[in-house]
Amino acid sequence: MDQEVAPNINLPVPRTEGTVSVESTLLKRRSVREFQDGPLSLESVSQLLWSAQGITDSHGYRTAPSAGGLYPLELYIVVGNVQGLNPGIYHYRPKQHRLDLIVNGDLRRELCKASLSQEVIQQAPVVFVIFCVFERTTVKYRDRGVRYVFMEAGHAAQNLCLQAISLGLGSVTIGAFSDNEVARILKTDKGYAPIYIIPVGMAY
Ligand SMILES: Cc1cc2nc3c(=O)[nH]c(=O)nc-3n(C[C@H](O)[C@H](O)[C@H](O)COP(=O)(O)O)c2cc1C
Repeated sequence: MDQEVAPNINLPVPRTEGTVSVESTLLKRRSVREFQDGPLSLESVSQLLWSAQGITDSHGYRTAPSAGGLYPLELYIVVGNVQGLNPGIYHYRPKQHRLDLIVNGDLRRELCKASLSQEVIQQAPVVFVIFCVFERTTVKYRDRGVRYVFMEAGHAAQNLCLQAISLGLGSVTIGAFSDNEVARILKTDKGYAPIYIIPVGMAY
């Protein structure tokens, strides 16, 4: 069951052509843990969300592969400084390419504390959090489905990191955090487990 939601934000249509090669994003990707001040555009955030979990054809298939097409991932953002978005927590809806507001207010500090006080989380203008619902995949693949879900999160995360590079941004993939605390702060439903935290911003 999904949460009760407040206002929806329709996102700008994502670009499907770019000027930066895949090879060059692979070459330049590096974990970035310090970001410049200043806002990110809503276009960049839209593009990043699409790169991780966007729908790419009329059958509902997405940018990242998914075992059995069961799509166990749920993508959230913790917004601090994005043009056109109030600080808060938002849930990405791939089908509508839309954000649903979950919580109002800047929660980056709390999320930072829940993640061994890794400062980059507090500093980033936007922080992506990949959650999963294991049951969507284990119902078909049983125990083996657990590894499939983690693999899939890796695909989505890498898409996002490479897309960040092509937008002139930096990111870091963070796995060290308290699962319970992260789920509490983002007010996710029972059964949603956080896998990855990915702060994104303008590198120095
Ligand atoms: C599963 C996973 C968990 C990670 N967790 C953290 C983390 O909690 N904090 C952090 O600063 N970096 C984290 N990293 C990033 C690694 O430290 C980083 O990828 C590694 O040092 C190699 O550097 P590079 O990403 O610049 O190539 C994680 C990376 C992976 C793949």
